[in-house]
Formats: sequence, structure tokens, C-alpha cells
Amino acid sequence: MQTKNKYKPVVHFTPPANWMNDPNGMVYVNGRYHLFYQYYPAAPNWGPMHWGHAVSEDLLHWEHLPVALYPDELGCIFSGSCVLDRANVSGLGSIENPPLIAVYTNHRISDHLEQQSIAYSLDYEHFEKYYGNPVIPNKGKPDFRDPKVFFNPVKNCCSLVLAAGSRVEFYSSENLKDWKKTGDFEAGIHGLGGICECPDCFPLMTEEGEKWILIISMILPPEQAGKDKDCFHRMSHITQYYVGTFDGNTFHDTECSALPLLPDYGTDNYAAVTFQNLEEKVMLGWADNWDYAAQTPTDADGFRGQMTLARQMKLVKTAQGYRLAFSFPGLDSLKASAFPLFPGDNRLHTQTFGLKTTVNGPGKITFRNSTGESVEIEVTEEEIIVDRRHGGQTGFQKDYDSDCYGINRAPRLCQNTSIMEIVFDRCILEVLADDGMTPFTVSVFPVHPYEKICVTGEISADFYQIQ
Ligand code: FRU
Repeated sequence: MQTKNKYKPVVHFTPPANWMNDPNGMVYVNGRYHLFYQYYPAAPNWGPMHWGHAVSEDLLHWEHLPVALYPDELGCIFSGSCVLDRANVSGLGSIENPPLIAVYTNHRISDHLEQQSIAYSLDYEHFEKYYGNPVIPNKGKPDFRDPKVFFNPVKNCCSLVLAAGSRVEFYSSENLKDWKKTGDFEAGIHGLGGICECPDCFPLMTEEGEKWILIISMILPPEQAGKDKDCFHRMSHITQYYVGTFDGNTFHDTECSALPLLPDYGTDNYAAVTFQNLEEKVMLGWADNWDYAAQTPTDADGFRGQMTLARQMKLVKTAQGYRLAFSFPGLDSLKASAFPLFPGDNRLHTQTFGLKTTVNGPGKITFRNSTGESVEIEVTEEEIIVDRRHGGQTGFQKDYDSDCYGINRAPRLCQNTSIMEIVFDRCILEVLADDGMTPFTVSVFPVHPYEKICVTGEISADFYQIQ
């Protein structure tokens, strides 16, 4: 049976209607997770950006709030972050009522000038723009955007990292209003080079002490992008990370990994950043890709774009070096009617479900319907492969079902038994393979609901509905 909104996910965040891209300003305050996002409320296409706003108590059910930031005389509102100013160093609130400060990019449409501005809120819903904007002016550097604020433990103040062309720049401030540049980091020395976007920088504890992670979303140079089937160059936009140290001024890559490190091997996880003011590190990304985001099918509601599920992360030491490993926080509370699947075909009655699988060796999981649409998740000795080429509608964009865009692959990190978590939610498939170290986020638009799950090989799977 087809519903009116057959693609609107149930537990993945989508805007009330119309266009959405990056998650912005994610912060945990007074028991609620706040999610702001790049939003064009007037049409299902990118337009002058606003910050949409939603809140949640469990990261799975979201309540929409009014638009938080509207374009102004300095430009539209591009990506950025929020920080709860507990000590009221900004003087924009009080200790009793700490201000929530949004630090964002003003993008002027006429000449693309990008400068950093702030706004503050005392009720964490309505924002006042700061009269002294921009707080980080720009005389004309191209691609100067997406500030992410974080606590600087060396200087005991706030720092931010922003994208500045092929590098990211670090700034620090005592009062969140006056910012001084402290250092920068060139993305392409190790890892992928190109134009940086939406950086994030934060510490994670390991058995060997604290390490810092630098995440950067990248626009690859056109001569590289979309040409090669390798997991790094098959799309024009991809997110990478580095493992290293932060000395109070800048980030240093200490892993110097020969191959770029990816927080996701699927086509659809971009601009992913973490929540502020939360003990554990939880990341969320835009589950889409600029290569086709403006062409994907819209539903009866006309929404375009969804977020990944929130992913909690840890840093794990492997034979190949440090790797981020992810899990879905809170999902257990929604699991209903769990049962083991039989080897071979199993009937499927819902388009929002999860699978907890144990991988003992090569095998395959396929979702399919009687019209021949199918998605395959294959585990071999060497690779994990998620193939959505025949998953459903593909004609909206010329490359969507090509080998390059349609086959997602990643090298194996586990040789022995490993856990693979899978969530499917109407138009979005997430796979956390090899104990969470090899994630995939992949969009897929079945014309007809999938009716069967087929499990073959050395994989056992528990199925659960998500409610
Ligand atoms: C990344 C990005 C950001 C920018 C925003 C504009 O997807 O290009 O760099 O701030 O989207 O919507």
C-alpha cells in the first residue's frame, strides 16, 4: 500500500516542508537537543538561507519551532554553531539566564562576501542579532564560512574553526564578540584537498589518552570529482576527518594516514558536525549530496532533504590506526516486535525498520519488491558494498544509478565476527558495518514498497520495527 508521503522518513529529521541542507547550531540545553538547519522555507529548492529550528528529547522525535534566523542586510544565514554562554562572558545575558549564542556566516548574495556574525537568545527560541556584526569581517576572501565554536582547554576560552578556501582557520575569543586568528590547517597535505566547508574540532578519549578530531566537508576539484569509482573521488562532495592534537592555537595531524579517513562511505552524509554542551560526542549530517540534492523526488509535503540519525562516536585503535566508531543512541527504546530472520526470504510489512546483524563471514542482505527493485548490502572478505543502483526511481539525475554514484564500497576493518547495524526509513538507508567503524548513508527511492528481506551467507540478523 502506498501512502501519500511514501518517502517522508519516520525517525529521520525532515523540515516541515521545502528545502533543507546542513545541520547547524546543534546544542543540548535543559534536557532538550536543539537542531537548527539550513532552510529555505519558500520552495523545495535552495534559496536565500534561513536557520530552521527543531527540538527533541531523544534525538528521534522532533518538534518544529519557528524559523530562528532570517536573512538581514549583511546577507543570508549560512552554516554555523551555537554555544551556551554559561558564564555570560558575552554580557548578552546573565549568569541566572545564560545566553545561547549563535555564531554563523552572513553570505551576501550580490557578491558572495562571507563574514561571521552572532545572534543571542535568552529563551533559546527567539534570537536577537548582535549590533556589532560582523564579528569576523572579511575584505573579500572567497569561501570563508561555517564557524564551529568549541571550548579551548589550553587557553580556557572559546575557540572556533571555520572554512577558508583550501584550509581551515582557528580563532579564539574571551567574550565571543572579539575574535583573533590563532592558526590554520591545510586540508590537502594528508587527506583530500579542495574547498573546505563545515569544519568541526573536538577531543575524544582513548586508552592512550585524549586525541583531537578535525572533521572537514570537502568540495573536490572538478577535475577529480565524480570521475573515479574509488570511495574518495566518486562524488563532488565528501566529508573527511583527521586524528591529532590541538595546542590551543591550531590542530596538528598526528596520524598522517596514507589514505583519507572518512566518517561515512555512503553517498549521502555531508556537512556532519557534533552537538555542543554534551558529554558524549554525537554527530549528525545532512543525508543528501549536492550532486543531486535539487533533483531528488519530493513527497506530497514537498520536503527536500533529511538528516542522518544522530550517531554517538568513540575513537578506536585498529591495526590500521585510529578510527571513529559509531552507534545509534536511543534507538533501543523504539525497537518493537524483534525477531530473528530466517536464512533466505522473509516477508517485510513496514518501510521503517532496523536489523541488528552478526557477520561471521561473507554474506548478503537484500531488500526487494516484486517489480525488481532491490538494494543490496554485501559483505566480502575484503569489502562492504552497498549497491542502490536498482533500488527504485533513478531517472531524476543522470548519474544516480551509475556504478560511480550507485555502488558504495569500503575496505573491511574486522577480520573476525563483527556487528553490523542497519536502519531503513522509507528513503534513507544507514549501515554501521564492522562494529560501527564503517558507516554508510545512502538515499534510495523505491517506487513500490520493499516486500522481502533476503539474508544469505554467514550473516545472522534480528529484525525489529521502529515505532
Ligand atoms: C555546505 C554549505 C556550507 C554553507 C551552506 C549554504 O553544504 O555549502 O558551506 O554554509 O551549505 O547553504
